[in-house]
Amino acid sequence: MKKIGIAFFLGAVSFSLSAKEGMWIPYLLKQLNEAEMRDMGLQITAEDIYSLNHSSLKDAIVHFGGGCTAELISGEGLLLTNHHCGYGQIQAHSSLEQDYLKNGFWAMNREEELTNPTLTAAIVKYMRDVTNEVMVGVDPAAPQKERLRKIGENARALIEKEETETGYNIEVEPFFYGNQYILVAKETFRDVRLVGAPPSSIGKYGADTDNWMWPRHTGDFSLFRVYAGKDNAPADISEENIPYRPKQFLTVNLNGFQNGDFTMVYGFPGRTQEYLPANEVSYIMYNYNPLRISVRDQILKILDEKMRKDDATRIKYAAKYARISNGWKKWIGEVNGLKETDALGKKQELENAFRAKLSQNADLTRSYGYVLDSLNKLYAMQLPLNLQRYNYLERMYYGTELMRHMLRYRSLVKSVEEGDSTAADLSKRLAAGMEDFYKDYDQAVDGEVFEKVFPDYIRDVHQEPLPELLAELKGMNEKKQMDFSQKLFEDCVVLRNPEKFVSLLESNSAKAVKMLKKDRAYRLASASYEHYRESLSAAAGPLADAAEELQGAYIKALREVFPERRFYPDANSTLRVAYGKVEPYDPVDGILYKTQTFLEGVMAKHVPGDYEFDLPEKLIELYNEKDYGPYAQEGRLPVCFIASNHTTGGNSGSPALNGSGELIGLNFDRAWEGTMSDLNYDISRCRNIMVDIRYVLFIVDKFAGAGYLLKEMRFAEPETPVQLPAEILPSEKN
Ligand code: ARG
Ligand code: GLU
Repeated sequence: MKKIGIAFFLGAVSFSLSAKEGMWIPYLLKQLNEAEMRDMGLQITAEDIYSLNHSSLKDAIVHFGGGCTAELISGEGLLLTNHHCGYGQIQAHSSLEQDYLKNGFWAMNREEELTNPTLTAAIVKYMRDVTNEVMVGVDPAAPQKERLRKIGENARALIEKEETETGYNIEVEPFFYGNQYILVAKETFRDVRLVGAPPSSIGKYGADTDNWMWPRHTGDFSLFRVYAGKDNAPADISEENIPYRPKQFLTVNLNGFQNGDFTMVYGFPGRTQEYLPANEVSYIMYNYNPLRISVRDQILKILDEKMRKDDATRIKYAAKYARISNGWKKWIGEVNGLKETDALGKKQELENAFRAKLSQNADLTRSYGYVLDSLNKLYAMQLPLNLQRYNYLERMYYGTELMRHMLRYRSLVKSVEEGDSTAADLSKRLAAGMEDFYKDYDQAVDGEVFEKVFPDYIRDVHQEPLPELLAELKGMNEKKQMDFSQKLFEDCVVLRNPEKFVSLLESNSAKAVKMLKKDRAYRLASASYEHYRESLSAAAGPLADAAEELQGAYIKALREVFPERRFYPDANSTLRVAYGKVEPYDPVDGILYKTQTFLEGVMAKHVPGDYEFDLPEKLIELYNEKDYGPYAQEGRLPVCFIASNHTTGGNSGSPALNGSGELIGLNFDRAWEGTMSDLNYDISRCRNIMVDIRYVLFIVDKFAGAGYLLKEMRFAEPETPVQLPAEILPSEKN
């Protein structure tokens, strides 16, 4: 009786992985996913998605600036990504007179496209398992440090050899915590020009209030173009360059989709941790996230108050606010989602099943019996250290601008002290960068933040050895601490007399350094950073290495113990495919979220003059005239939609493709109730949010009058005759 019970129980756990969960390695789709994908509605083959031998969809997928995804949508290098991915570039080209963030930007011909000195666009040429090559000469019995050194050496040799042979950028990335290594070859383009961006009132509509939320009404897109040398290969920015001619670009489908339709997202997800044990997930839920959330609560409250009172402050702090609130809001959603879906219970269930299986098999017990207990002990040891890490990072690093800013001078102080001949140059470069700091800095705002977080930082920092200054501050009473923090701002060399400080940096770096070394802000920034880098790292580093090793053993064990279950590696910024369906979700009793939003919903949120919910006049006019052209769906203009694709940060800008591999949307966010998918995906509520390609092209064509760009695109045959402008109809059948 008992035996049957266990077998049944295990069966249930083994297949608990939802059909749609996962971020899959493209070259393994055929083996692991193709049959299921086709069952769900995929009409093309795995080989059409990723192929080594001929061109495939992968040739149209671009790693944009290293952090986002983008896709090629024309034979002339036209690139589609998110507005929030191109934000830095759009901002860099903006000035008070020409505010492209506010008003949008549209190149009306190739000459008007804008170059971006540090922006790159990388296309994956091939990927290959190199585990055996990387493991050559690695003694499994040697200490971890020794093994990692050898692995690093092998990987570097491999990279060097292959880079010389191919001219591509080669990376070797660990998967499954080092159980597997995959080599990735990329062609990296360096001339990527800005083509178009809607005003923020469309591209960032709803800003922080709507961020991570469904229903959503944001047109989060921008357009770039990849340029290459005459040989179609990557080249430095030059007038001689011509638009890149890709091996493949995406076909746009304006015919829409229905609930239940297959979708996939092809891109570069950044980081997930799906295989943590329940204990560590509980630390994230009850310790790490709450600390980080509570500090950011304090900071955001101060920023919000000041931004609402004063327009100049609002402009200065909008980007900083967005940065701090993005993580804050995600973590709140994550904790709620983990609780509401009983993630801990599910993880525990898996661990019980795992232990039960081990107990039936002496070999497995010998190999892996120690893993879970050791891992749990280790994570418990890390707890106080991680809390101190976040104490520093949240309060002193991300929290207080002045503290972070002062760290810039550490290398100057060092090079002056060491008599380095480049010190004067470095000092001049720092001086040149000062304008950027002062432009968006408000001492009253930052001072208030500092006063709030500083006493807590001092209270919570304790790992020995403590730098002298920190020990001294810990010994002070509250009044003395207050006194210190007030003087820290009042007397700060950077703030007291900016002109004088900048000219000192320009002309007399030795004197600047002398002043810095006496400066309270510099001394505190330095001491707290050193404590973080040295005392904390010394204690935490070995534990982190051990955790990495044990996580590797745990996932190896899971795969052996549950051979019938499919495992996907955690995201690591390599190319992946996620697939799911357009489907609603009901995260709260009594609420069912529909899958699509429309322009009516955009209008309903309109608050004239508001910095998050204002709208351009022109869009309102188009709405009033219902002038939607071929972009309408039964008389309404679709804006955003959701599906059950498993995505994370880095998937921003990824294409959403239908069963035929055609472009129907652009990924840019996840629904708040499901942000815990980074730790524990749950089909009942994890949804990715995409802007409908019809809204994107409506904005390009009808709103911006840049419809000339549509001529380079390729459109799927309309299933039902919609009125496409003659010039964008497919010219020949294929
Ligand atoms: N939540 C989206 C992503 O992680 C969009 C972030 C940008 N938008 C914003 N309002 N902060 O990263
Ligand atoms: N906005 C995220 C990004 O920038 C994507 C949303 C997510 O985390 O899923 O990558």
